[in-house]
Amino acid sequence: MSIDSAFLDRVRSRVSAGDALEVAVDAAARSSGVVLGSSALASTARTVRGELFGAGPLQPLLDDLDVTDVLVNGPGDVWVERGGRLVRAAVDLGSEGDVRALAVRLAAAGGQRLDDAAPTVDARLPDGTRLHAVLPPVAEAGVLISLRVVRARALTLEELLRSGTIAPGLVPVVRALVSAKANVLISGATGCGKTTLLAFLLSLVPDTERIVVIEEAGELRPDHPHVVRLVARRPNVDGAGGVGLSELVRTALRMRPDRIVLGECRGAEVRDVLTALNTGHDGGFATLHANAAVDVPARLEALAALAGMSRDAVAAQAASALDAVLHLRRSRADHGQRYLAEVGVVRRADSGALEVVDAVRADPGGTCLDGPGWPALAERLGLRSR
Ligand SMILES: Nc1ncnc2c1ncn2[C@@H]1O[C@H](COP(=O)(O)OP(=O)(O)OP(=O)(O)O)[C@@H](O)[C@H]1O
Ligand SMILES: [Mg+2]
Repeated sequence: MSIDSAFLDRVRSRVSAGDALEVAVDAAARSSGVVLGSSALASTARTVRGELFGAGPLQPLLDDLDVTDVLVNGPGDVWVERGGRLVRAAVDLGSEGDVRALAVRLAAAGGQRLDDAAPTVDARLPDGTRLHAVLPPVAEAGVLISLRVVRARALTLEELLRSGTIAPGLVPVVRALVSAKANVLISGATGCGKTTLLAFLLSLVPDTERIVVIEEAGELRPDHPHVVRLVARRPNVDGAGGVGLSELVRTALRMRPDRIVLGECRGAEVRDVLTALNTGHDGGFATLHANAAVDVPARLEALAALAGMSRDAVAAQAASALDAVLHLRRSRADHGQRYLAEVGVVRRADSGALEVVDAVRADPGGTCLDGPGWPALAERLGLRSR
């Protein structure tokens, strides 16, 4: 049976009238003279669900547990990142017009518009998948879609050890950072696993604590029974109604948090987070884009400058607020394996400048080496020196 747009329209109108999806598919099929058996009904319903609410022909790729990214460069030019490696996917999206229609529909599903007046979009789909799309002529050769899969659950310690993400020697350190309520900044380049590591760390937080998560879009899925989320809202087309991260950080402080978590620190909200962590809110977490741990101070300074903070003020605030930086990397070999490469401490150098000093470094093979910051970290975490 062909699942064409007329068929989808019939299903859609029944679903909006209150029918369950399978009931609607069954009725729509019958009205075109087809009676579906139970397995055909289930598979048709799955396809229709992908078309109506999901990513259409891309949905099976997103459902694949090994896939982390789906990249569309054209109707017959689809790539997936699987196990750290980019491979071509055998998917036919039809015509360039179909790809554009898919991008527009996905953007709408994420509550954003995508058209000639707004040719780029960054949105979150209802299932958490992150969407980025660009229309021509900004995308020179045709519509570009990038989808980042979000895991429905946090990775477990066993999984992170097996994949080499966390070296065994770092496990006591990571556990102690959580149990000692250290304030932790997770840094790394784009896509190196910051959010994934953060979700894991939050899963280690005792069940008796309340976690307030502030995000640009609901992405963190920690395995924890007491998580509440605040999600930023963009202003509408008239520029009204926006709720930014800075405001949400301040709001979170009034919500009796045991842990304040900023999913990604990317602007002036850095000032509010540093203030919060300096005023008795321990055990906080944030992630930050930085290509190396030593770049973290410069990155913090650049963001804080957006909030009008001087270099000296950032150095003072960050050195007293932040206990540790966890820096992630992707190795050059091993299909770009993601791993926790450095645990650093944050302090002020004699010159007064902010610096991150390595306490432990790990290589992709899991070998750990203590650095000059280790005694300070061991003392803060109550770990015995090794
Ligand atoms: N340790 C890991 N093992 C396997 N897959 C991982 C691991 N860490 C991250 N991933 C996968 O890699 C992708 C990117 O991870 P994540 O979103 O955590 O990175 P990020 O650094 O937060 O990215 P961004 O810079 O875009 O915020 C995701 O699809 C995630 O599932
Ligand atoms: Mg992230």
